[in-house]
Amino acid sequence: MTKPLDRTILVTSALPYANGSIHLGHLVEYIQTDIWVRFQKQRGAACYYVCADDTHGTPIMLKAGEEGIQPEDLIARVAKEHQADFSAFSIGFDHYHSTHSEENRTYSNLIYKRLRDQGLIESRTIVQAFDPVKEMFLPDRFIRGECPKCGAGNQYGDNCEACGATYSPTELKNPISVVSGKPPVEKESLHYFFDLPTFKDMLDKWIGAGHLQTEVANKMREWLDGDLKQWDISRDAPYFGFEIPDAPGKYFYVWLDAPIGYMASFRALCEKKGLEFDRFWNEGSEAELYHFIGKDIIYFHCLFWPAMLTGAGFRKPSGVFAHGFLTVNGEKMSKSRGTFIKARAYLDHLNPEYLRYYYAAKLGNGVDDIDLNFEDFTQRVNSDLVGKVINIASRCSGFLNKRFDNTLSECCAEPALYQEFITAQASIAECYESREFGKAMRKIMQLADRANQYIDEKKPWVIAKQEGKEQQLHEVCSVGINLFRVLIAYLKPVLPAVSEQAEQFMRCDVLGWPDSFEPLTSHRVSRFKPLLTRVEISAIEGMIAASAENLAPKKIQSKAKSAVGGTAEAAEMIEFADFAKVDLRIARIVKAVPVDGADKLLQLTVDLGGDDRRNIFAGIKSAYRAEQLENKLTVVVANLQPRKMRFGVSEAMVLAAGPGGKEIWLLHPDSGAEPGMKVK
Ligand code: 2FM
Ligand code: ZN
Repeated sequence: MTKPLDRTILVTSALPYANGSIHLGHLVEYIQTDIWVRFQKQRGAACYYVCADDTHGTPIMLKAGEEGIQPEDLIARVAKEHQADFSAFSIGFDHYHSTHSEENRTYSNLIYKRLRDQGLIESRTIVQAFDPVKEMFLPDRFIRGECPKCGAGNQYGDNCEACGATYSPTELKNPISVVSGKPPVEKESLHYFFDLPTFKDMLDKWIGAGHLQTEVANKMREWLDGDLKQWDISRDAPYFGFEIPDAPGKYFYVWLDAPIGYMASFRALCEKKGLEFDRFWNEGSEAELYHFIGKDIIYFHCLFWPAMLTGAGFRKPSGVFAHGFLTVNGEKMSKSRGTFIKARAYLDHLNPEYLRYYYAAKLGNGVDDIDLNFEDFTQRVNSDLVGKVINIASRCSGFLNKRFDNTLSECCAEPALYQEFITAQASIAECYESREFGKAMRKIMQLADRANQYIDEKKPWVIAKQEGKEQQLHEVCSVGINLFRVLIAYLKPVLPAVSEQAEQFMRCDVLGWPDSFEPLTSHRVSRFKPLLTRVEISAIEGMIAASAENLAPKKIQSKAKSAVGGTAEAAEMIEFADFAKVDLRIARIVKAVPVDGADKLLQLTVDLGGDDRRNIFAGIKSAYRAEQLENKLTVVVANLQPRKMRFGVSEAMVLAAGPGGKEIWLLHPDSGAEPGMKVK
């Protein structure tokens, strides 16, 4: 193993999309990476860990549209949420950035221009599915229809969930755009392509040079032996992303600028810390560069990314570490079962250190999926952490407190046993280094067993009652605390919060890697407080119940448009009782005006009868000019909590139906309805 002090390392985790919350599946990767980084830092390496939100692309643009806000507002809100979740799980990024940043624009443009200037970018016209209502090209995922192989309905444009067939969207029968609910048409457009096949030989050598796990290298070999195609790196407006410098109306595909986000985030860290960017990224750099990723994005990180870097004159990664997916209780995470658990839902019920330990105990260095089984989780945390590790300190500290003024004995009475604990450091370090965290945890727990066995043999609770055994009692308890200290140092990458509290309890220096730890002697510790409590089954049940809230087992496909121009996604079934809470009322639109800076919204003043007038922002501008709306009747949700939007507070919601675009219908004014009438 390379000596840690000689190492300079840059580490990344995959950038989470900015349109959803962090969940327990994501956390496998962030916890895995964070443990590895903390281990490197503890051993004295100059190790930096960066990440960012992945903010560009169609789904983010559409989600912002659904909410009636700008993409910038959506990504700002999600950035806060993500970072709060990461910090609560002690994911210790040195910097967390955004792909929608000036640094990222700079490096994306730079890499593109370098590739272009070497003739590695080509353009040609392609035919693509186009939504004629929304006037946008549709990614495969935004087209649904019947599977051309088995006829199953409501399938994505690229593969069938019923029979597993893959196909192109043009093969789908009766396709509809998920955005408008209308059939897409085919349309030509000029696209830009990166010449991946040029890099076949380079990639071939790189795969053989030991940068990848065996399973990943094998998969890569298959791809390389197959038909390597040029990669389409452009998308047409409307698209939330960076416009290509010499191609107005064309944007970099999100997957082009996402990995460049690693560089952008690191660039921002360099500004913060005075580090030299080029030392890490230039061709021939001696710094190590590692990307932790899920196995679903190997293609992007092991083919496109090294090729782009090489083409643009940058170094390639030293390693790409792929991990498997998370299952919960042996099955895919499921919203209806309550096992699709968001980071925040977990934090509302359980201690994050439990999950860090459990994942560590399950993780190896391969791409196998890992299972979070809540029975096993409870048992392991309670038995290993509470029952073995923390128990050592609680068994010894009581006597130290009552009989020895919290002060350890003058010398370590079991130097051989203590040395056994220190000697284990090399093999534990080897396991951490090679990401065999499960093996590391087993070795550490064997040592914890050994410490407990020592205490069991010495029986301090017996000698405490015997005359003249004062010194022996003191020594046994002091040995126990010193062994505990070494164990905590080994667990520190996994349990940063518990370790910090343990350091405070032992009043010792911040724990480094225990390769040359001297035992603490004649040293005063603090009064012991329990560092971790047992996992309660009721907390797990509470978390699962909260995660299953408001969800029903079955999904239906809805073609209805929400008033703010939302997509016709599969909607969750709701209970009648939930629906009955919605207060639907007839309202007359008394005033309608356009909203400066919002191309989809109109600001309405509606009369709900009596003196009840409300301000509403409604995404119906595509169907109506403001002046057409005055005096029209509509249905509103009258008991919706007021929502603060970018342009003001919306105090109710207009219900309009139709596929979107020009076809969003309100009630006809002559329908006989009156403002304030309850809709039944
Ligand atoms: O798959 C994903 O969730 C992507 N947002 C990961 C991007 S990783 C990197 F390339 F930026
Ligand atoms: Zn099928």
